[in-house]
Amino acid sequence: MSEQTKQYKRILVTSALPYANGPIHIGHMAGVYIPSDIYVRYQRLRHRDVIHVCGSDEHGVAITMRARKEGITPQDVIDKYHALNKKAFEDFGISFDIYSRTSSDIHTQTSQEIFKKLYNDGKFVEKTTEQYYDEEAHQFLADRYITGTCPHCGNTGAYGDQCEKCGTSLDPTDLIDPKSTISGSKPVLKKTTHWYMPLDQYQQFLEKWILQDHKNWKVNVYGQCKSWLDQGLQPRAVSRDLDWGIPVPVEGAEGKVLYVWFDAPIGYISFTRQLTPDWEKYWKDPDTKLVHFIGKDNIVFHCIVFPSILKAEGTYILPDNVPANEFLNLENDKISTSRNWAVWLHEYNEDFPGKQDVLRYVLTANAPETKDNDFTWKDFQQRNNSELVAVLGNFVNRTLLLTEKYFGNVVPQPSALTDYDKETLAKIAQIKADTEQSIELYRFREALNNAMGLGRLGNKYITDMEPWKVWKTDPERVKAILYVNLQITAAISTVLEPFIPHSTAKLRGFMNIADTLEWDTVGNVELVKPGHQLNKSALLFEPITDEVVQAQVDKLNRTKIENQRENFKPEDQKPIVTFDDFNKCDIRTATILAAEKVAKTNKLLKLTVDTGIDQRTIVSGIAEHYKPEEIVGRKILMIVNLEPRKIKGIESRGMILCATDAAGALHFLNPDAEIENGCQIG
Ligand code: MF3
Ligand code: ZN
Repeated sequence: MSEQTKQYKRILVTSALPYANGPIHIGHMAGVYIPSDIYVRYQRLRHRDVIHVCGSDEHGVAITMRARKEGITPQDVIDKYHALNKKAFEDFGISFDIYSRTSSDIHTQTSQEIFKKLYNDGKFVEKTTEQYYDEEAHQFLADRYITGTCPHCGNTGAYGDQCEKCGTSLDPTDLIDPKSTISGSKPVLKKTTHWYMPLDQYQQFLEKWILQDHKNWKVNVYGQCKSWLDQGLQPRAVSRDLDWGIPVPVEGAEGKVLYVWFDAPIGYISFTRQLTPDWEKYWKDPDTKLVHFIGKDNIVFHCIVFPSILKAEGTYILPDNVPANEFLNLENDKISTSRNWAVWLHEYNEDFPGKQDVLRYVLTANAPETKDNDFTWKDFQQRNNSELVAVLGNFVNRTLLLTEKYFGNVVPQPSALTDYDKETLAKIAQIKADTEQSIELYRFREALNNAMGLGRLGNKYITDMEPWKVWKTDPERVKAILYVNLQITAAISTVLEPFIPHSTAKLRGFMNIADTLEWDTVGNVELVKPGHQLNKSALLFEPITDEVVQAQVDKLNRTKIENQRENFKPEDQKPIVTFDDFNKCDIRTATILAAEKVAKTNKLLKLTVDTGIDQRTIVSGIAEHYKPEEIVGRKILMIVNLEPRKIKGIESRGMILCATDAAGALHFLNPDAEIENGCQIG
């Protein structure tokens, strides 16, 4: 039976456990946590038995690398980021039923139990291979702890698992001149034994389960699974030689820990166990619908590796759907924690208090559901101002203000409804049904667009009806108009709840509605009754100004410059020149006497300089770096015997010496004292 028609008894929703090695950013939110929160809030509105499980992923090399970088212990890292991220999610209104952590005892216990069961049942294969070992640091090296030269492109900073310059995946032994990043020494190959999940043995099962039985999965998810399966699955190690992680619970495994991708998904189980004594009902009854919300880099682990582990264990259900999203970029550049190129959730919460819904709205409207998408602050402002403020907020606020003004904030009793009134009211049910269907199919952009149909419906109706004009001639008619408006407004307070829950709660406050309305009744019954007393209202959304948006853009620009500074690599040295060659260049001290822009160009300034020998004109490509008025009087160094050139019809005689810094800014070079023009350099 298909996911859409089966009657499930309960729904278990998991959101990918973010590594506690850095803050949460908008890419995480758009890809995973906003969609899952919409889905869960919607299911709750329908009174379905649903739980939403998440927490920090606190093992693996991601954590130890961060600890080395920050000069603190792995425990410090996870404590810091677990607390930061948990609070950021809370402040943002992501409604997890539990947000736990994989460093908890219950998780160690659960993952060790599952490992032991698989071990005892003979589900693993044991293999001895040679891996790089650091003899100074006395430890095996994870792929990320080895750098060397990429055999494909010659990049000297390639990692053991990947060359980030040419994008090739590597094996540590592919690297030329491998080096340990821990001690700097040359690692040696040493034998080590690990347990492997023989995924090749699950190939057939997975082919049937995914390729035949789950054709309904999202195209990007299905496609990635198919490509893995088409390549043929290989055994994967589920243990590691690392000093951070859950100890492998079998004899003779001292110093070995569970591979982070073995223990992390089991976190979903551990946290459910921590949440409710009924946890087995959620995980073992086939009438549970299990849905994993993840980003696209997690697909193989959730669709292939984890299901094979669960299948091997034998008592657990498998996911019904894995609605993975693609990636979100930021201002046309890949979001990156290490490059600090992100909008961090905790910073957004601070910079935009009370505006969580704006980001929720924008990230949903622009979610990378079928392809990578781009977030820009301009688009953020635009969607807020022209959709939330101008359509939704405008409609709601006009409705509430007019009800206050004409009827003392009491829902009016209409004496008659026109056909147009009735048609308008009838559309509420359709809009709700469309929204519902899109959510069930994990199409959240479409769902939001459908739900916003209520705002558009109301806005069009009130604009067509012009109650503020009708009031003068036919106050009785205005009762009907505002009655219709208020029904739509009430529907908004529930149908938009999954998307913008802070605003709908506020709206229910204005409308004096204690709780969300019964989802099933929306569109079928009168949602607010005549005579119902409303409260005082305020603006639901406010415009976002250019200054506010510019401040965010400036912040990103500063980051870009910092990154360029940090990553600065000087150009290679040019070929040797003779002393005579050098001596041919006549370099002098000089002063800029006048400067003006060269007409119809962006880059060029026409300068008059005093070289000590003469006064002459040079044309210089510095207009984007210096304003004419700021450089008049500046002492510079210049080559005075450079062959003259005509630039834009002006003869230029000489060239100013400048240095371009890591961020691309130009700088004049100055003598360190006030000296005469015409002094020779050499
Ligand atoms: N920490 C992983 C990441 O950020 C996601 C882990 S999901 C889980 O990519 F299933 F393993 F928990
Ligand atoms: Zn390379």
